[in-house]
Amino acid sequence: MTACIVGWSHGKFGKLDGETSESLIVKAASEAIAHAGIEPKDIDVIYVGNMNGGFVRQEFHSSLPLQAHPDLRFKPSTRVENACATGSAAIHMGLNTLAAGKARFVLVVGVEKMTELNSAQAGEVLIKASYVAEEANIEAGFAGIFGKITSAYFQRYGDKSDALAKIAVKAHKNGAKNPYAHFQKEFAYDFCRNPSDKNPFVAGPLKRTDCSPVTDGAAAVVLTDVGTALGLKQAIAFRAAQHVNDFLPMSKRDIIKFEGPALAWKRALAEAKLDLLDLSFVESHDCFTSAELIEYEAMGLTAPGEGERAIHEGWVERDGKLPVNVSGGLKAKGHPVGATGVSMHVMSAMQLSGSAPGGLQLPKARIGGVFNMGGAAVANYVSILEPLR
Ligand code: COA
Repeated sequence: MTACIVGWSHGKFGKLDGETSESLIVKAASEAIAHAGIEPKDIDVIYVGNMNGGFVRQEFHSSLPLQAHPDLRFKPSTRVENACATGSAAIHMGLNTLAAGKARFVLVVGVEKMTELNSAQAGEVLIKASYVAEEANIEAGFAGIFGKITSAYFQRYGDKSDALAKIAVKAHKNGAKNPYAHFQKEFAYDFCRNPSDKNPFVAGPLKRTDCSPVTDGAAAVVLTDVGTALGLKQAIAFRAAQHVNDFLPMSKRDIIKFEGPALAWKRALAEAKLDLLDLSFVESHDCFTSAELIEYEAMGLTAPGEGERAIHEGWVERDGKLPVNVSGGLKAKGHPVGATGVSMHVMSAMQLSGSAPGGLQLPKARIGGVFNMGGAAVANYVSILEPLR
């Protein structure tokens, strides 16, 4: 254990008219610093996770947290980008900075303001996170990439639309308990399973209810070393933090194997000296329901091709043997890309400190896993978290 999360904040995710990436950053930064019980002057280094790529005209974000307090002026701050894993990338940069002895307190803010564009325009931005030379002409933006992956999976292992619909139902049932979620309502199985005017096909076998939405939002954490954390009011320690990048072109990989995610999980569990089922819960990157299905296999919960067992047999439900996406996941909580990885860490820190709001809190949350993915299984981050004391 080398570092801890000692403060956090999480705003409401959704279509936030009237907010800007600046206003979201300033609020998230101020609240996380206050929650840590430290002063703005104590922050040594700042990272801002923001993918952007044209979601908003303001591309240069690194100095915007300085607007949270005059004492943040002149602090070194850098924007970090690694597609949909941007938030975790910013946190892992913070961990590296602490490990190098270059800071005592690091502030990490993840933010994305996506809804100034409509879904089709947002898809044009998101497709830049594919291997553009070969993949950018696919229809339906990034959903098209996962439509292709889902079709290939169905071809090899059979039609899994029942499992995908159940994953969507689980996400929305959990999200209904999360006051920060974009969608806070349950969706019926028949609605998710059957195409309709309100649930049309978007790409390949994926329907609207299989996709994460286009969302605005921000979240932030304060990181510090274990020695310092011992003197603060709350501390969630990193028992492991692993980062694995794979080739960008899907043509260079067996894309339904998710080899990068599997390696990140294997290394993280080895670093933590744990088995997967030692975890109390996992927050996993369900940008599409089929991504969550394949991630069950990548994390080692089932053999390849058998991911559906995890949902059909209830293992990943809130009361199952490994609850996955108790927060509602990207599917229901929303996926403001630069904020998502930070949000996953904040949701886990809340669970592990017993401070998750209302009906969201799990009765026994001891150790949590986070898997955040950029691109189609390209940039893969796993964190394993537990309370320091
Ligand atoms: N899941 C469930 N319902 C959704 C939804 C989603 N992902 N997205 C939108 N809706 C609902 C809206 O709330 C709205 O409901 P209402 O009629 O009751 O008000 C309705 O569907 C229409 O919303 P709209 O925004 O017009 O839908 P759309 O068809 O333009 O967009 C998607 C839907 C799925 C295409 C869009 O959310 C999308 O592109 N998602 C993928 C984003 C992505 O690729 N992220 C990166 C992943 S790596």
